Amino acid sequence: MCGIIGYVGKRQALPILIEGLRRLEYRGYDSAGIALSDEQGVSVTKSAGRLSALEQIVDASQPHTSGIGHTRWATHGAPNDVNAHPHQDGAGRFAVIHNGIIENDRALRVYLQRKGVEFTSETDTEVLAQLIAQLYNGDLEDAVRQALHEVSGTYGMAVVCADEPGVIVAARKGSPLIIGVGQGEHLLASDAAAILAHTTQVVYLGDGEMARITADEVRLTTLDAMPVAKDVEEIEWSLDQIELGWHEHFMLKEIVEQPSSLKNCLRGRINLEEGAVRLGGLVDCTRELTRAKRIIIVGCGTAWHAALVGEYLFEELARIPTETEYASEFRYRNPVLDDGTVVISVSQSGETADTIAALTEAKQRGALTLGVVNVVGSTMARETDAGVYLHVGPEIGVASTKAFTGQVTVLALMACYLGRRKHLSSTAAAQFNAALAAVPDHVEKILTAADECKAVAQKYSDRDNWLYLGRGYNYPVALEGALKLKEISYIHAEGLPAAEMKHGPIALITDGMPVVVIATAGSQYEKIINNIQEVRTRGGSVIAIATEGDREISQLAEHVIYVPDTLEPLQPLLTAIPLQLIAYHAAVIRGCNVDKPRNLAKSVTVE
Ligand code: G6P
Repeated sequence: MCGIIGYVGKRQALPILIEGLRRLEYRGYDSAGIALSDEQGVSVTKSAGRLSALEQIVDASQPHTSGIGHTRWATHGAPNDVNAHPHQDGAGRFAVIHNGIIENDRALRVYLQRKGVEFTSETDTEVLAQLIAQLYNGDLEDAVRQALHEVSGTYGMAVVCADEPGVIVAARKGSPLIIGVGQGEHLLASDAAAILAHTTQVVYLGDGEMARITADEVRLTTLDAMPVAKDVEEIEWSLDQIELGWHEHFMLKEIVEQPSSLKNCLRGRINLEEGAVRLGGLVDCTRELTRAKRIIIVGCGTAWHAALVGEYLFEELARIPTETEYASEFRYRNPVLDDGTVVISVSQSGETADTIAALTEAKQRGALTLGVVNVVGSTMARETDAGVYLHVGPEIGVASTKAFTGQVTVLALMACYLGRRKHLSSTAAAQFNAALAAVPDHVEKILTAADECKAVAQKYSDRDNWLYLGRGYNYPVALEGALKLKEISYIHAEGLPAAEMKHGPIALITDGMPVVVIATAGSQYEKIINNIQEVRTRGGSVIAIATEGDREISQLAEHVIYVPDTLEPLQPLLTAIPLQLIAYHAAVIRGCNVDKPRNLAKSVTVE
């Protein structure tokens, strides 16, 4: 979704802003703009469409050493030039960029209109720009502070002012902002990827905090003007992790990275000799966690699918009743929570608005909250009582891949960690850990034999409807496989628990309809073979994901993609891989923009 970049220093701001915006493109956007400021004033250039459209019209002839830039994903107002950020006051002295939603923008608009202010756009952000201009009395920081006291809603915002060249004022409430610290320069961004090429030293702005940023100084205060002291922190991500390198798409890069991302996720967390799991992030709440009467896992999209695998894992290994909920439903459902309930939020970005809101609801009702999050320093990582990072590195592809396997891995580790403190024997835990440790090599093996996935995509990518079936631990994988296909190839796909097929969706099966069936060895193997027969009888084309050594299944399925044998609870980590590859190849064959799928945003920071 929307992205923010800012620069103030001694170098030319424009190329730094454009490069920063380019690195934010992956989040999804439909317009972009920049504001450059110097003694002469503030100059704003903005354009609907891709960043290249902005580059064509921006005046690069004038040197500027400070400015702000924005990519917008439309919420209030159509994605056109006028509604693109930055927004200005009538006199063009201020330029504001903003992520989030100003909820009382209608009332503020009327108030400002009564004072004679004329608006040019439909956006809530213009209200903020006009309000700051009205309140300005020679001190930008003070005007922003006053304006934000009038505002309700969420914001990660930045503003420049013609009267104060070389100054950026930024503020955050519910939408992330980080300040990059360089040599005689500072950067501002909503996402570390935008500034990583310049610095790995950052200060995370907290909710309700403001920053006045110049080339030499960052002054942090609360919205009530109290000084805030913060340490500079190091971002662990490296530039090559956010660059494509020799890969064709980020999605493919991240799929093939999974053997190493999973190794990183597991590193230092399992002790094979002792059969023990070490999760430093849970140490302080282990007692409370072990006594939990109930676990609720919340997430959205792919994270919700990982959470569903987590539900099965927690119940089986830790014997704690567990439910998985869409974060968006949980927050408005008046859920029954007590102090014996633990709420776990699963999220790659740590910034998904619905999941944050669910977390806030859970906290308010006294539940212990945990985060299973990838982005270090993200809102969820900060707002939860404790948690476990994925450590799978930055995920740039909009279709989540390595984050899914990272989330499942962390949930498996957590389930084993809790299980050991309850009913799981050391022998069973040791066996589980050994199987988990072998997963990265198994994934490597699946990736080296990936031709069959491409062949499946080639054969069926022209079909409009696909079904994905799975049982038990592989039911969430069926959902995830269908989501991957929909997201990037725009093929309609449905994922189902296989037994549910006969309660309706079976009516959809026609001659040659591709039906992906996850039919790995395990407790429900015979049942899923029956489901395959049901599909075949109706003319469907079965693509089976099966366990190595299962020769019989090739008699029943048109295509078989084999995965190595592992414990049933860990199968999702293997069976998800071919489904990611099938979706990827289908999208490429159909000529879709894999890394920038239509209408989608990497991180959904609005409701
Ligand atoms: C968006 C993305 C999905 C992702 C979901 C949750 O819809 O396109 O890929 O699964 O948000 O994101 P999160 O960052 O919370 O995991």
